[in-house]
Amino acid sequence: MCGIVGYLGEKDAFPILINGLKKLEYRGYDSSGIALLNGKLDVFKKMGKVTELENFVLKQKHIGNIGIGHTRWATHGGPSDKNAHPHNSMHGIFTVVHNGIIENYSTLKEDLLKQGFSFQSETDTEVLANLIEFFYKQDNEINAESAIQLALLKVVGAYGIAVLCKNEKDKIIAARKGSPLVIGIGNGEYFVASDASPIAEFTSQVVYLNNEDIAIIQKDGFTLKNVQNNPVSLKVSQLNLEIGEFNKGNYEHFMLKEIYEQPATIEETFRGRLKPDYSEIVLGGLIYVFPKIQKAERIIIIGCGTSWHAALIGEYLIEEFAQVPVEVEYASEFRYRKPVLGKSDVVILISQSGETADTLAALHLANEKGATVIGICNVVGSTLARETEAGVYTHAGIEIGVASTKAFTAQVTVLTMFALKLAKTKGTIEIDEYQKLVKELSGIPEKGRIILQSNEKIKLIAEKYKDAVNALYLGRGILFPVALEGALKLKEISYIHAEGYAAGEMKHGPIALVDDNLPVIVVAPRDDYYEKIVSNIQEVKARKGNVIAIVTEGDKRLIELANDCIEIPNSHPAIAPLLAVIPLQLLAYHIALLRGCDVDQPRNLAKSVTVE
Ligand code: AGP
Repeated sequence: MCGIVGYLGEKDAFPILINGLKKLEYRGYDSSGIALLNGKLDVFKKMGKVTELENFVLKQKHIGNIGIGHTRWATHGGPSDKNAHPHNSMHGIFTVVHNGIIENYSTLKEDLLKQGFSFQSETDTEVLANLIEFFYKQDNEINAESAIQLALLKVVGAYGIAVLCKNEKDKIIAARKGSPLVIGIGNGEYFVASDASPIAEFTSQVVYLNNEDIAIIQKDGFTLKNVQNNPVSLKVSQLNLEIGEFNKGNYEHFMLKEIYEQPATIEETFRGRLKPDYSEIVLGGLIYVFPKIQKAERIIIIGCGTSWHAALIGEYLIEEFAQVPVEVEYASEFRYRKPVLGKSDVVILISQSGETADTLAALHLANEKGATVIGICNVVGSTLARETEAGVYTHAGIEIGVASTKAFTAQVTVLTMFALKLAKTKGTIEIDEYQKLVKELSGIPEKGRIILQSNEKIKLIAEKYKDAVNALYLGRGILFPVALEGALKLKEISYIHAEGYAAGEMKHGPIALVDDNLPVIVVAPRDDYYEKIVSNIQEVKARKGNVIAIVTEGDKRLIELANDCIEIPNSHPAIAPLLAVIPLQLLAYHIALLRGCDVDQPRNLAKSVTVE
């Protein structure tokens, strides 16, 4: 949510900043801006995508070896040139880019108005810029970092900021609380960014800022302190990102590329974790906590959006195989409830980005309550990964499409391994069944490749339903969360209202929606619920609904009954979510494309939701 980039070195800063912003655009894309420090501060801002900013700046003089940039996802104040970042302080001494929310900005603003400050925008960030300038002008002796530090002590809320000061011509000052920031250490040059994507092509040496860290970056090095003015030691980490991951390759969109990557990413998720003879699952990151997990009286899985859907699948798997009670919570609810939680509980937090504000708040609450807290996360070095006691990386590679696809199947793969491992350790699964399932899991990539061959067929189905106003997704058992995920994919990228329902619940309300305009997408492979879901399909057909069924290959009965069918290879029901979701992702993709929607950057959304 909002992307920050900064550069300080010998090179021309503008191309580095603009390319960095393009890589960060998935975090927010309603406006963008950059500031260059070149003896004076030149600030350029534009509503719209980063290319609009680029075209705007290219027509003007844009010199500087030090600069900061920002791509915005609006919180305070709508998308506009004036609300775009960077924000200058009233006398132009400071310019600030900010990710996060200053919760007490209205009180601070009132105080600053009384002090004679005026404001050009509706943003909380401009309040921070003026607050910094207020402290700076109070005392002739004070330098930029001390003024920033004093201002941050007054701030309630979350921030990742990068600041330039017109009077201190060789510095970028960056600070974080809640919103992530990483510093790249190059050869005589430094980078600041919200995540490592703009940095990876220049250096693999990075320092992740911790909460309340302030970094003072200059050509001859950088120092860290915290807002309380205590020195902080540097911990340099090694990045492991492939540059190719940031390109669409031959695909029209990142989302399509990421859907197609799934056979490979699922394989990557279990690589080295499944013994070749299927006798063992090794989750290295959990070795030390596994004895506690084994004794857990309850497991609580927490996430948001797609990660929450993966959590629901985890609930079915863990309860079925390991027979441990599981609860699944929305992080945004859990963090504000007064949950009953203690030392005997295990809390699993799931997040692709590892930076979702609600999920991190849930993490802190679970830690306070003394539970064993573990993470399932995709982004290496993210806050979730660093602040959980132990965890499992999903290894899906960078996911750029705002609609999560490969991260979801990677999360489900981890949860499947987790459930089976726990079941085996607790002795709640027969060894034959265990080995059969591990073998099935290892065969998923091949089956996934087969499903992807239906792409053209799915495109034709999308043609038929692209003008729908509403859509209903139905599934039963472990495939109910898959129906939820299918509906989320459709609504977030095509803006068609879609609801996911447990098929058995349809008769309790949603059936009233069924008419000849409603596409009903039913996840109906052959499993224990098959006969029941066939009855649900009959009920929809009897009311003239259009059924698009996801069925096991060769299922003649449903191929005849449904209006359209997408076949998936036969699999053990516990593994079926990994397959059944792929056609739903493709269907949403093609419908969105046919409706002319921006698939990779859908309106109002951002990839990483680092505000409440
Ligand atoms: C999914 O397509 C989403 N755009 C969104 O629901 C996402 O899954 C959610 O914001 C959670 O993100 P996280 O996994 O990075 O925590």
